[in-house]
Order: sequence, then structure tokens, then C-alpha cells
Amino acid sequence: MSDTGDNMASAEDRILAGVFHKLPLSLVRGKGAMVWDAEGKEYVDCMGGYGVAIVGHANPEVVNAITRQANELITCHGSIYNNMRADFLQKLVEIAPKNMGRVFLSSSGAEAVECALKLAKKQTRRNEIVALGGGYHGKTMGALSVTWNPKYREPFAPLMPGVQFAPLGDLEKLRELVSEKTAAVILEPIQGETGIHLPPDGYLDGIRELCSERDVLLIHDEIQSGFGRTGRIWAAQHWNIVPDILCLGKGIAGGLPIGATLAKEEVMSAFKPGDHSGTFGGNPLVCAAGSASVEFLRREKLEERAKTRGNILKQGLVELAKKHRIVREVRGLGLMLAMELRFEVRDIILEALTKGVILLYSGRNILRFLPPLVIEEEQVKKVLETLDEVLTEEERRRGV
Ligand SMILES: Cc1ncc(COP(=O)(O)O)c(C=O)c1O
Repeated sequence: MSDTGDNMASAEDRILAGVFHKLPLSLVRGKGAMVWDAEGKEYVDCMGGYGVAIVGHANPEVVNAITRQANELITCHGSIYNNMRADFLQKLVEIAPKNMGRVFLSSSGAEAVECALKLAKKQTRRNEIVALGGGYHGKTMGALSVTWNPKYREPFAPLMPGVQFAPLGDLEKLRELVSEKTAAVILEPIQGETGIHLPPDGYLDGIRELCSERDVLLIHDEIQSGFGRTGRIWAAQHWNIVPDILCLGKGIAGGLPIGATLAKEEVMSAFKPGDHSGTFGGNPLVCAAGSASVEFLRREKLEERAKTRGNILKQGLVELAKKHRIVREVRGLGLMLAMELRFEVRDIILEALTKGVILLYSGRNILRFLPPLVIEEEQVKKVLETLDEVLTEEERRRGV
């Protein structure tokens, strides 16, 4: 039995594919924005399972829904109707952007993107996609093809043909790349993996107009930015933009694996039986957790909490940036924040861990904050105090 942290680490290191940059941390329990390791030490979780733990770890309503459903029916293929799936679909489209009344359910963010790409090609009968510099959409072959970072793409070439990247913020370049062969433009309204980058003023509107003008589908990937994270239910609401296809994932089922691809009727109707499927998509257990999560989000107005707690965290980070010369910039919206440093952040992350705070990196020199939206003010305070101490030590160590 892998009961101690060391046993867990040695089993995983021996057996699990070595594709993760591992932290020296073995978690066994969570509650809200707190998690506990195998030795009982507690941490404030600003990683939140890479932004999955939106409604909080072990959210009691999600736990109840899963427990109840596990006793009823765990699996039910998409070719058979199911009460939990029907209920979740209705709840999801109620909070979806206007007219996004059709949904394909899958089990991960990358799968939501795969579905969006196939749908765009089938609906438009065109085969090229334009993606953005800095964009991240997952690591399966199709999603990887529209993911910008060459480090992720190059070892796996050739990927899906017909993909071009426009530099983030350059509308003119995008105009040049979108042609009569373009099926869709895919983008994250706020880029996550590459370090929380907001679009320049007018940029997303410009893309929306361009897509409508040229009859090209606009795919928004809100897998990281969606479900209340940025202070609105969907990040694109900050700019009043509605895409043609919307990709969701991460926390919309309270932590169980999910992906969802939403589209307007006239777009989704291009899919006919057999065009796309997956064994697990729309699984009753996951849908029960999804319904509980949507209800919790709506009742607790989680997007407002993300805004108020996010403001406190961001303000604190801005104060730290004034005090510590190794900080270059603080940016983001709601509880999707980043602090860019002048140096590598790995030591800072390790030091924060020893002091009971889990931070997330974005590239070499950026700290990313994606905590559960239920994070309490005292927990935000603890994060800021810890970061202050760790930055002070780092500056002393580097002689800055
Ligand atoms: C914006 C975005 N798209 C797609 C993905 C891929 O999701 P998954 O890891 O669930 O496949 C992620 C994951 O971090 C993401 O942030």
C-alpha cells in the first residue's frame, strides 16, 4: 500500500510515463481551497489541479451527487438516453452564451477541441484553421496542431495540415491568413498556459467581425478561462463576444473528467450519426457531478467571488511587485492571474511548498494562480504573506 508520500512517489516514478515535471508533493485529501499531503501537512492550493477545482475540493454537493449516482448507474453509452445526462445538458445550455443550444460531451479539454475542429471542417467544407501565437489547446494530435509552442509540436510532426498561426494581437496578419479555405479561427479569449495574456483592446471584436464577414467559424477555447474563473461566467463576456463554437472542460464537472463542445444549432447540425463519438462522453456519474457544479456556480455566484477574491489577490500581488525588484509584471482577471519574474520560478515554487502554498508555473519565469473560486480571504492572505517571504529570500539569495 502506497501510504507514505515516499512510497507514492517511488511507485509513480517507477511506473507512470515520465511526462510530468513532478513536484515533491503527494496529496491525499482536499477541502475547498485547502489540500493535505500524506503526512498531514496542509497547503493553500493555488494550482487547483491546473484550474480544475473551481467549485472547491470535495465540494459537498458534488460529493453527494456522485455518491448518489454511483449507487444508481455509473455508465450509460451516448446511444441510450439517461436522466443525468438530460438534466446536465439543460443546465449547461442555460448558462451558455446565447444560442449555444447544442452540446457534444467528451472527457477532456483536448477532446472538446478535437470535436470543434472536426465540426468546423464538416460545417464549412473547408480544411484550414488559423490559430494564435501563444495559444494552447491540448496535446492530442488535432489539438496539438493548433497549439502554438513549437517545443510541444515539433517532435510529433507531421501534424494536422492546413494550420497557420497569427501573432497574438496582430489583426492585420490574421486578415492576411484567413482565406476562402479557412474553416475556423481558434483562440483562447484569455491565454492561460503561456502565462495569462489578455487580448489588446478591440482585438477580439476585430476577430469576431472578420469571421462573420468571411463566413469563417470562430472557436473560443474557454477550457481554462470559463465557468466563472475570470469574474464572468465566460471570459468572452468581458468583451460581449459570442463565438460560433465554444470548448469547455476542466472544472465544469466538479473535478471529474469532462470536455464539452457547444455550438449553435446551424453549426452542430452538420454532424450526422457516426461523424463523431466517444465511449465515456455524457457518462451519468460525470453528468451528475456536472449538474451539481452548475447549480453551485449559479447559486453561489462563483463568478462574483472570483472577481472580489481575485481583486484582493491581484492588489496584493501588485503591492509585492512594487516591493520586490525581481517581479516584472502582474496581470490577469478574476482568479486567473500571473506574476512574471525576472528569473526562473522553480525555486520559488519549491520554497512556497515548504511553507504550505502550492503555486503553478507558466513557462520558466511566470507564476500562475488558478485557485478554487471558493478560496477564503484568509487563505488569499496566507498566499500573499508566503510569497512575500519567498520573494525576499530569493532576492537575498540572488543578491538583487
Ligand atoms: C485553454 C486550454 N485548452 C485545452 C486544454 C487541454 O485540456 P486537457 O488537458 O483536459 O486535455 C487546456 C489544458 O490546460 C487549456 O488550458
